[in-house]
Amino acid sequence: MTSAATSTSTSKVVDPLDLIDIDHVRFYVGNAKQAAVFYAQLFGFRVDQVSDLTTGSRKTADYLLTQGNIRLLLTTPLTPDNPINEELVKFGDGVKDVALTVADATAAYEQVLRNGGESAYEPVTYSDENGSVTMAGIKAYGRAVHSFVSREGAYALDKIKSGGEFSPGFRKYVNFALNDYNEQHPCGLRFVDHCVGNVEEGKMNHWVKWYEDVMGFAMFKHFDDADISTEFSALMSKVMASGNNLIKMPINEPAPGKKKSQILEYLEWHSMTPGVQHLALRTDDELRSVAELRRRGVDFLSLPDTYYELVWDRVNKMLTENGHEAVKEDHQKVKDLGILVDADDEGYLLQLFTKPLQDRPTLFFEIISRRGSQSFGKGNFKALFEALELEQEKRGNL
Ligand SMILES: [Fe+2]
Repeated sequence: MTSAATSTSTSKVVDPLDLIDIDHVRFYVGNAKQAAVFYAQLFGFRVDQVSDLTTGSRKTADYLLTQGNIRLLLTTPLTPDNPINEELVKFGDGVKDVALTVADATAAYEQVLRNGGESAYEPVTYSDENGSVTMAGIKAYGRAVHSFVSREGAYALDKIKSGGEFSPGFRKYVNFALNDYNEQHPCGLRFVDHCVGNVEEGKMNHWVKWYEDVMGFAMFKHFDDADISTEFSALMSKVMASGNNLIKMPINEPAPGKKKSQILEYLEWHSMTPGVQHLALRTDDELRSVAELRRRGVDFLSLPDTYYELVWDRVNKMLTENGHEAVKEDHQKVKDLGILVDADDEGYLLQLFTKPLQDRPTLFFEIISRRGSQSFGKGNFKALFEALELEQEKRGNL
């Protein structure tokens, strides 16, 4: 059931843009039924719920995949006249919506419009006798959207976190053996650590200002292209964070290099339209998670052999200088698993990047764990870019 929403929330909301959580990340995919199995098999997601013809949904099929506090919603159009088809033609499979839970979706939406944001879609409420979910969307960079989501009754956030129904119109996905297997062989992914967008050259500062003015975000860290350049390609990146630091959204733009940057490669395979480049998924145990993901067949970027000749000195020196203990994970295991390490004045982090999740070189995942460090692996960017350029060369895109 769908109707225009009127806000009925009586809770005392100081700031309508106070973000409670990343409600879900919606992907548009060509075949949600098959994509669900890919993310379940390789990354250990639970295929938890579905909304499709069997539940009366005749326009799209939607699969809710869960792991820890990560909720991915895979959406596929069911009919040729659905406008999602056009996006699939232009962009392939990828992220459409980074949706944010708020106390009152309509109030957040109206605040953002007052702040100069542009509507993607007006508030809609889905309700039944158990509760309701209200959603309203605004346009972010390129094809990306932020939905605001507010939840009542059985669909409240704490309920869906513990396995409750996502929204009216969803049913539990039952008799799926991979769900039991994944429970017994967890990948340990807990929540979305950050979400990176690629925008066109010269547009980074525009979108930084947009996140400040429209969403009430603030700048978190800043790298310039001197930090992040290899011999051939470069990028510039600024990190925007919500007021409570709940969500961090780095924004990349290509910077001129001798060869084609990976940001430009993304844009060229994404109809020159900005979009989400990667989702970083947080684990408490990088080694265990990466070992399990590799065992399942996840294809990670491999590093130049020289990486581990330099990394321990670089990282442990930074840690000692700032009064932190050295990297506690077994150095040989880190190397065997091909994990990257970086440190800043607050501590260190372990991270690893998958290859693209679809045939087009667009969206990928990062698997990250933090031991104090709140940055994004700046020291790895050079090593990483060299590895990425090797991949680009294989694809004939350098
Ligand atoms: Fe990242």
